[in-house]
Amino acid sequence: MIIVLDFGGQYNQLIARRVRECHVYCEVHPHTMTLEQIKELNPKGIIFTGGPNSVYGEDSPTYQKEIFELGVPILGICYGSQLMAHILGGKVETAPVSEYGKTEVDVNTSSVIFEGVSEKTICWMSHTDYIAEAPAGFKVVASTPVCPVAAMECPEKKFYATQFHPEVMHTQEGITMLSNFVYKVCGCSGDWKMDSFVESTIEQLREKIGDGKVLCALSGGVDSSVAAVMLAKAVGKQLTCVFVDHGLLRKNEGDEVAAVFGPDGPYDLNFVRVNAQERFYSKLAGVTEPEAKRKIIGEEFIRVFEEEAKKIGAVDFLVQGTIYPDVIESGLGKSAVIKSHHNVGGLPDYVDFKEIIEPLRLLFKDEVRNAGRELGIPEYLVSRQPFPGPGLGIRIIGEVTEEKVHIVQDADYIYREEIAKAGVDKDLGQYFAALTNMRSVGVMGDGRTYDYAIALRAVTTSDFMTAESAHIPWEVLEKVTNRIVNEVKGVNRVLYDCTGKPPATIEFE
Ligand code: XMP
Repeated sequence: MIIVLDFGGQYNQLIARRVRECHVYCEVHPHTMTLEQIKELNPKGIIFTGGPNSVYGEDSPTYQKEIFELGVPILGICYGSQLMAHILGGKVETAPVSEYGKTEVDVNTSSVIFEGVSEKTICWMSHTDYIAEAPAGFKVVASTPVCPVAAMECPEKKFYATQFHPEVMHTQEGITMLSNFVYKVCGCSGDWKMDSFVESTIEQLREKIGDGKVLCALSGGVDSSVAAVMLAKAVGKQLTCVFVDHGLLRKNEGDEVAAVFGPDGPYDLNFVRVNAQERFYSKLAGVTEPEAKRKIIGEEFIRVFEEEAKKIGAVDFLVQGTIYPDVIESGLGKSAVIKSHHNVGGLPDYVDFKEIIEPLRLLFKDEVRNAGRELGIPEYLVSRQPFPGPGLGIRIIGEVTEEKVHIVQDADYIYREEIAKAGVDKDLGQYFAALTNMRSVGVMGDGRTYDYAIALRAVTTSDFMTAESAHIPWEVLEKVTNRIVNEVKGVNRVLYDCTGKPPATIEFE
């Protein structure tokens, strides 16, 4: 295993993903992790991440020197490289010229880290400090005209450091450098694979659960679906999945989930579908404030789930679809406060259970999808784009009514259908239709209309924290617009949202 020690870098998760792409298991831990904890995990290598600080700052994150005495290979990246230099007696200074972006770097290909890399290679730089002098015992193995120590090494002790970011795609040969580190320096064998993970997790779940009862809130999203199938394979009928249809799902989604997980589907589990549409619509009647809507939907969801759980009685385990980015983010104390997020499967207060099971807590989203494929879950479920817990409730601006839900469902269905037909969905992070609360005047046939405007949204994003409005071909937008105004009653105008995040968010509320 490789440990990524996080010093506040924005690419911490990316480093872990890249290492896992080399089929080497990897975990991200905060830099406050103790030396004892590191020793317990017995890592084959450690990677120090970048970070926004200067090693000389008073409160800058650091680590005790003894980490360099563990006999474990260490790779320092950006801030991590400066920290290595600083702790081991080198000199770090503010660079006279800071480098940002794609930069040509001269590398010494006799260094094991740069084996197979071109002598001049494009790397991603982002720094204001730099290593002015490498510590004694280190050799400089890469540089740029303004960065004398773009990489350094001490092969005897297996310490390596790069000022640039090998984990970022813009570093053209970065993955070669990282695989050199994990295979050639750390001696990892690269046998971490999804099929073995899926098999061993199912085996572990079976052992842990024994003949206990398990309850799972199934949303039909990727995470809860993959978790549910893993448990179904592990313990079959000991698992009950409760699927709450809150009436804010995409068109046909409820039936699709029921077709896969219900009695006619391939899995041997207890499936309970709760049709709670009316209940949600009546709670939402007259409510227009986004946060109030989010809270009502989140709370009502939990209440419905609790009521169903009561009918089932005490259970031993409750399943959560937590995935690794959630674990990392909560562990490192980061939190988004722009919107109160609600994940279907949020913790209910009154469900009688002894323990929580999180079978996906070590996986990134793309790994969850691969696990789903490994488990034979249909592709349309596995590759489903993210859908927020409050569903269409936050894609209808203002008051939610059943009529508006049908309008946005139909418009969204057409949009998704046309995007798929045109084959332009490959690079899109998320795309959907939303119902603006705006009505405007139009003309249809010979008559005046006064109907709603639908907003179409499509974004490209790597992490959903920032996003760009996607360039959907005009012909596709035109086709979607024509179909929506012709086929969806109550809509006479279609708008395309060109805003990025920030300043907008991806969802509308
Ligand atoms: P925003 O709108 O904040 O969305 O830019 C970022 C990503 O988060 C999703 N999202 C949610 N997901 N529960 C969820 O599970 C929520 O309450 C929620 N709100 C937004 C959104 O779809 C996008 O992928």
